[in-house]
Amino acid sequence: MKVLLAGGAGYIGSHTAIEIAKLGHEIVIADDFSNSKPEAVNRIRTIIGADFPFYEIDIADKEKLRALFAAEKPEAVIHFAGYKAVGESVRKPVAYYRNNLDTTLTLLEVMKEYGCRNLIFSSSATVYGAPDEVPIKETAAVGRCTNPYGWTKYMIEVILKDVAVADPDISVVLLRYFNPVGAHESGLIGEDPQGIPNNLMPYISQVAIGKLACLSVFGNDYPTKDGTGVRDYIHVVDLARGHACAIDYAAAHKGVEVFNLGTSVGYSVLDMVNAFETANGVKVPYKIAPRREGDIAECFADATKSRELLGWKAEKTLVDMCRDSWNWQSKNPNGYDA
Ligand code: WQD
Repeated sequence: MKVLLAGGAGYIGSHTAIEIAKLGHEIVIADDFSNSKPEAVNRIRTIIGADFPFYEIDIADKEKLRALFAAEKPEAVIHFAGYKAVGESVRKPVAYYRNNLDTTLTLLEVMKEYGCRNLIFSSSATVYGAPDEVPIKETAAVGRCTNPYGWTKYMIEVILKDVAVADPDISVVLLRYFNPVGAHESGLIGEDPQGIPNNLMPYISQVAIGKLACLSVFGNDYPTKDGTGVRDYIHVVDLARGHACAIDYAAAHKGVEVFNLGTSVGYSVLDMVNAFETANGVKVPYKIAPRREGDIAECFADATKSRELLGWKAEKTLVDMCRDSWNWQSKNPNGYDA
């Protein structure tokens, strides 16, 4: 199938491009580099060993998106094109609502015009807010988000469900990601956060390489096994493969379906620090700091539905996640910048 990856130069999009190209799909990437780098596109080409069409456009630019659809005629779209920094979304809510909703609405309008009926959406476990119980099933309550970024994911899910009701020919797959970490095993592509990282794994990597002095562990008084927060860390290549399964699912089904992409296993912050040190033979100095506002104690998936209906499950281990994160970080200490 010919697949457009909207926002495909970013962390998850770049890994997905490789996994779906490997399966024989034709890929087209569109990205405005608002949170990614042209070098990522070069490296995707190197890993795939082939060229593909790339469009430097803002997905919310309807005329340019129309021109892309007219030229490429994609049969499916994977929609990664959105802002994703939780803290920034609190400071710039209008920019987040404008960008994340506009890209989605523009894609929907142009897909309809050009008869493209398959859409995979990059959602997040953040839509569950503070869950009533773990592991979290897809049927758990959603909403109760704690920041504008999370609400954009929630709102886009609502919009896409409404679209699927109104248009019986469309197929929509909502993928709720847990905590993506790791990198492609080549070390050529990976997560390239701007400024000081907010997320745990890039922070650990930058402490290990000496760019940052010490990890602050946000709280050790949660009701978890060692008091630190527990999350479902998933290797980005496993996550990428989930999108390939979602393309097949969308092609075979109409309507809207939602899937968790997680491992179903929760690890604490200290588990991650210890695993990273052991896997890579490096030191990660840390100190205990106060809880971070908006954090929850525990969050991990019940991924049974993805296994049963998508035929997908996470295969990579915690050691793979730590080794591949470090491989990327140590080969690219400044990310994609030389
Ligand atoms: C994980 C754990 C922290 C940094 C967020 C978003 C979510 C998704 C992924 C995507 C928590 C602890 C972290 C640090 C720490 N968004 N931590 N010191 O908060 O589960 O999810 O990122 O684009 O929507 O909410 O991930 O990696 O920030 O934190 O102790 O310096 O690590 O308290 O327990 P989170 P995270």
